[in-house]
Amino acid sequence: MVSRMSQTIELKYATRSVPRYTSYPTAPHFGDGVDGATLATWLAALPDDRPLSIYLHVPYCRAICHYCGCHTKAALRDDPVIDYAQGLVQEIGLVAAAIGRRLPVGHIHWGGGTPSLLPVDSFRAVVAKLNESFDILPTAEHAMELDPRTVTKTLAAALAEAGITRASLGVQDFDATVQKAIGRIQPIETVTAAVEALRGAGIAAINFDLMYGLPHQSAETIRNTVALAHGFGPSRIALFGYAHVPWFKKHQRLIDEAALPGAGERIALERTARSILAEYGYEAIGLDHFALPDDEMAVAAKNGDLHRNFQGYTTDACDTLIGIGTSSIGQSHGGFAQNDPDIGRWRKAVEAGRLPVSKGKALDDDDRLRAAIIERVMCDYAVDLDAVCAAHGVTVDAVADAFERLAEPIADGLATLEGHRLTVTELGRPLVRIVASAFDVYLARAAARHSVAV
Ligand SMILES: C[S@@+](CC[C@H](N)C(=O)[O-])C[C@H]1O[C@@H](n2cnc3c(N)ncnc32)[C@H](O)[C@@H]1O
Ligand code: SF4
Repeated sequence: MVSRMSQTIELKYATRSVPRYTSYPTAPHFGDGVDGATLATWLAALPDDRPLSIYLHVPYCRAICHYCGCHTKAALRDDPVIDYAQGLVQEIGLVAAAIGRRLPVGHIHWGGGTPSLLPVDSFRAVVAKLNESFDILPTAEHAMELDPRTVTKTLAAALAEAGITRASLGVQDFDATVQKAIGRIQPIETVTAAVEALRGAGIAAINFDLMYGLPHQSAETIRNTVALAHGFGPSRIALFGYAHVPWFKKHQRLIDEAALPGAGERIALERTARSILAEYGYEAIGLDHFALPDDEMAVAAKNGDLHRNFQGYTTDACDTLIGIGTSSIGQSHGGFAQNDPDIGRWRKAVEAGRLPVSKGKALDDDDRLRAAIIERVMCDYAVDLDAVCAAHGVTVDAVADAFERLAEPIADGLATLEGHRLTVTELGRPLVRIVASAFDVYLARAAARHSVAV
């Protein structure tokens, strides 16, 4: 049961706009001070012995779901997708040349869009280029986001053969009325066929994406969706709150706003799904993930080894992430580099032999310190500030400004501070981003500018 007290506190903070902290500084603070030449310098300076992670973005889907907030566009034919895959192969070559050595890779993640839209031959060509350019470790996790409607037995076999170890399926909601309202008709039989094809091919690690906050969802529909999802036994479930931003994603205007749950209903939907997942034995991880106790993510969370990057919560501990494909963001000790989000410009840059970076952010020591603190708060709901500061060669005085901003959430019972150990309370867990934001100097500066302006 959601107590009245916790509802009141959550509603108080619900309208505050705070980042999801999949990076720090967050993407809105990226600028044009970083280009392909900057990235080339960072890549050349990578250490020899630390495994890398690679993220590949495929910005195409067969049709655009009304709710979609991802960077993607519709491709009715295969030609643009095949051409895009050739661009991926070229970009991998450019990155490898900038690194200048064959470095180990511990994680590969394909996101989108719908990477499963790549024709099998194109997919194989990209994987072959990865194998030629990097030393992909035998223990590497190789994960792909898949639309169940595109998963055939042939595709599943090709994915398994190429080394895919984990598949993440966009399920969203099983209710027919909700599916109609979100423009994604996906009968349960489609999901069954996709899961059977993947498991039949030997891809045993399956994640489901579910969403709450969608039109026409009720306690009953979400309970039913979670029960049906559980029936498939996915080892992980992500439960994303629908982000409705029709001014930014114009196709979201197809969503009937009158049918959207209000702020209080959204909280109740999330709590309902959360409590049923707990009854089914899923462990809650961070803000929006759930995993069976023997899943690597649940184990990492228990051991304090959970991480957060642009894909959200991850077991990936690599400190360098290479982003391949339009709009992808890479991260290394030097900073963040984001590829051009325009497919045409990205393609032209790659064709011309240039790393297709359009913006980014070079990091200083203060950024790295605050990023480490925010990551621990988001992943562990607790952080020993003395320990993290000491690991960065400073004392807690370096983040003294955060204590003032923590006063309100602490007074509201969202967090406690004992000495310099900050802990997010049960009440504060859904609002962990508010607690994390106390360490965000970019947000604080923007807020200060804003209040001066008014
Ligand atoms: C790239 S898609 C997953 C793969 C594939 N494209 C699919 O939809 O089946 C990533 C996930 O983002 C989530 N998502 C998409 N739009 C969203 C939005 N506006 N708000 C919150 N989550 C969203 C969905 O759960 C979706 O499964
Ligand atoms: S939710 Fe997935 S399939 Fe639907 S438009 Fe977005 S990326 Fe494409």
